[in-house]
Amino acid sequence: MKRFLTVDDIGDLKAALAEAQQVKKTPFAWQELGRNKTIIIIFFNSSLRTRLSTQKAALNMGMNPIVLNINGDSWKLETEMGVVMDGDKTEHLREAIPVIGSYCDIIGVRSFAKFEDRKSEYEESIINQFIQYSGRPVISLESATRHPCQAFADLITIDEYKGSIKRPKVVLTWAPHPRALPQAVPNSFAEWMRAAEKQGMVDFVLTCPEGYDLAPEFMKGVKLERDQKKAFDGADFIYAKNWSSYEQYGQILSKDMSWTVDAEHMSWTNNAKFMHCLPVRRNMIVTDEVIDSPNSIVIPEAANRVFSAQVVIKRMLESL
Ligand code: CP
Repeated sequence: MKRFLTVDDIGDLKAALAEAQQVKKTPFAWQELGRNKTIIIIFFNSSLRTRLSTQKAALNMGMNPIVLNINGDSWKLETEMGVVMDGDKTEHLREAIPVIGSYCDIIGVRSFAKFEDRKSEYEESIINQFIQYSGRPVISLESATRHPCQAFADLITIDEYKGSIKRPKVVLTWAPHPRALPQAVPNSFAEWMRAAEKQGMVDFVLTCPEGYDLAPEFMKGVKLERDQKKAFDGADFIYAKNWSSYEQYGQILSKDMSWTVDAEHMSWTNNAKFMHCLPVRRNMIVTDEVIDSPNSIVIPEAANRVFSAQVVIKRMLESL
């Protein structure tokens, strides 16, 4: 595996899920594979889960992880090509990327959308520069448009908690938030759930207010139910998330608190499990009562971030 950005990069989902369970059962079994190998994980933005779970996954594999916080520890980096660098940016990504590549075997990058230029952000200009110029396998740790390590962990979690239900109904619901958030998590979740649906593993429904449809490539084939109550009917998993508008790029069009997932919302479901990628704003996205209930699986979902990352790192090490 040379890059991990989309669901296509993981290949067969059932094989990936089986590998995740194998890794979870014996996390230290591949330490020789990672011995004397280095992963550099680069953060242009804040993180708790991604930062720690990727390091833990690398340590499980016997690797040496190095973390670089671009805005705190390094020179300020210019990311646009062809600009006159007469501002506050000291170094260009074009040099920084191959330098970083020369110090490691695998690179992970987190770089959120800034909502400045939809076209450039949906072309994934930053992570694609890492892929093009680093000479190393590159893991997206959340890019402008996708968060594949999260979506893979979400699929592992659904697979673990579906019990005897062969084809669980999984609902992705928009919920209100005070700040404009990227579309990366819902995009990836929709992409991975559609892929799982095609293999008969889930029944996927998206519900959101007008103006919050995802980009056309992520809506393709997705069942959209505008009525949140109808969408929740009979659901086995509720995945709540806020995102800003794609159509009116980066804008907040609604803060309608009737979309907040509360106990009444959960009563419309088939005793559904509650999921969220975290961090979550309590009593905006979800009420305390729901997130603190026995049906909330947000902590095991976050714990699975180690194993989604470890499968990806393992596959990359195997293909070095
Ligand atoms: N879910 C997730 O990616 O969390 P962090 O932003 O804390 O890494």
